[in-house]
Amino acid sequence: MRKRFKGLTLLIMAMILAVVAAGCGNASEGGSGGGGGVDVGIVLPTKDEPRWVQDEQRFKDALADSDYSTEILFSQGSSAKEKENVEALLNKGIKVLIITPHDGAAAAAAVEAAKKDDVTVIAYDRLITDTDAVDYYVTFDSLAVGAAQAQYLVDNAQGSEVPLYLYAGAGSDNNAFLFFEGAWKVLQPKIADGTFKIANSSEAEKLKDSADLSRDQLGKIIDQITTNWDPNEAKNKAQTHLTAVSDDQKGDVAILAPNDGTARSIADVFASDSAITNYLITGQDAEKASIQYVIDEKQSMTVFKDVRTLVKDAMGMAVEILDGNTPETTGSYDNGAVEVKAKQTDVIVVDKENVKAELIDSEYYEAGEFTGLE
Ligand code: BGC
Repeated sequence: MRKRFKGLTLLIMAMILAVVAAGCGNASEGGSGGGGGVDVGIVLPTKDEPRWVQDEQRFKDALADSDYSTEILFSQGSSAKEKENVEALLNKGIKVLIITPHDGAAAAAAVEAAKKDDVTVIAYDRLITDTDAVDYYVTFDSLAVGAAQAQYLVDNAQGSEVPLYLYAGAGSDNNAFLFFEGAWKVLQPKIADGTFKIANSSEAEKLKDSADLSRDQLGKIIDQITTNWDPNEAKNKAQTHLTAVSDDQKGDVAILAPNDGTARSIADVFASDSAITNYLITGQDAEKASIQYVIDEKQSMTVFKDVRTLVKDAMGMAVEILDGNTPETTGSYDNGAVEVKAKQTDVIVVDKENVKAELIDSEYYEAGEFTGLE
C-alpha cells in the first residue's frame, strides 16, 4: 500500500516539474501565470493551530524549488474572512482553489463564487457540504482516525466499567462527524459489554445500544461534547466534567480526545485531579508539542497524518487540472448535494513505542526538537 503511494509521489513530482516548465513558457506568451497573477490559491482555516501552520510550511517546502505561482491565505476561524480570501484570490486570476473550510456548510458561498469564475475547487482535508461547487476532495481516512483512537483505548484499558470520557471536534467540521463515527463503531460494543462506562455524555448514554448512528444522532452527541477544536473550551469542559462526577467515575479512566491541541489541555486537567490514578488519552495530528507529551507519557497516542502526502496529492491534482487532464481519484464522498471525487490517504498510529521510527526516522521531525527520546 505505502509503496504504491511512493510511486505515485514520484509521478506527481515529475508532473509538477513538467508544468512548472510549461508555466514559464506560458508567462512569456502572456499566459495565465504572467503579470503577477496567481495560478493556484490556497486557503487554510487558522494560524492559531499548529496543524495548519504545518500544512502551510509543507506547501512551501513542496513548492520551494519552483516558481510555480501559488498564494496561501488564512481565514482565522472566520467564514467571512474565508470568503474575502477566496474573492481576493479570484481577483488574482486563480484557476484552481485548494481550500480547507473553517465551517463546511458556510464555505459553500465562497466556493460557489469560485465556480462562477470557472475555477476548479479542491476541498483539502475538510469537505465542503451541501453544494455542488466542489470538484475534488483530498483527504486522510477520517473514519480510520476515529477508529484508531478508539481501538487504542480498547487495547490498553484494563478491567471493566472503565470510566470513559468522550470529546469531539467542531460540529461545523464534517470531519468531527467522521472521527466520532469511526470511534463509536469500535467503542459501542465495548460500552455494551461493560468494558467502558460513559462518564460525561447523557446523549451518548441514550444511544449506547445503537451500533450505527444517524447524522442527526451523531450531531446530538457532538453538540454535547464538542471542544469546537478549541483547547480552552476543551479544558473548561474537562474541568466541568470532573467537578460533576463522583469518585467512582475517576480512578483509571479512558479519554477519547479528538486531536492533539484539545488532548493536551484535557490531559492537563485530568493529570491535576488527585482522584485520577491513571488516564489513557488519544489525539491526532502528531503536533510537536504532543510528540513531547507522548514521550513524557502525558498523552498516550496520536494519529500521524503525513501532511507531506496530502500536500503532494493536492498540488498534483492542481497541476493535472492546469494541464487539462483529469486527476486520479480513489473514491468519493457524499457531501449532501453531490458525490465528490476523492483521493484518500492512510494514517499511522503513534505511541511511545514507535514514535522514533515513524516521526524521526521518516525525517518528518528532527530528534533535536524533542527531549527524552530514546
Ligand atoms: C483536521 C484535524 C484538525 C482539526 C482541527 C480537522 O478537520 O482533520 O487534523 O486537528 O480539524 O483543526
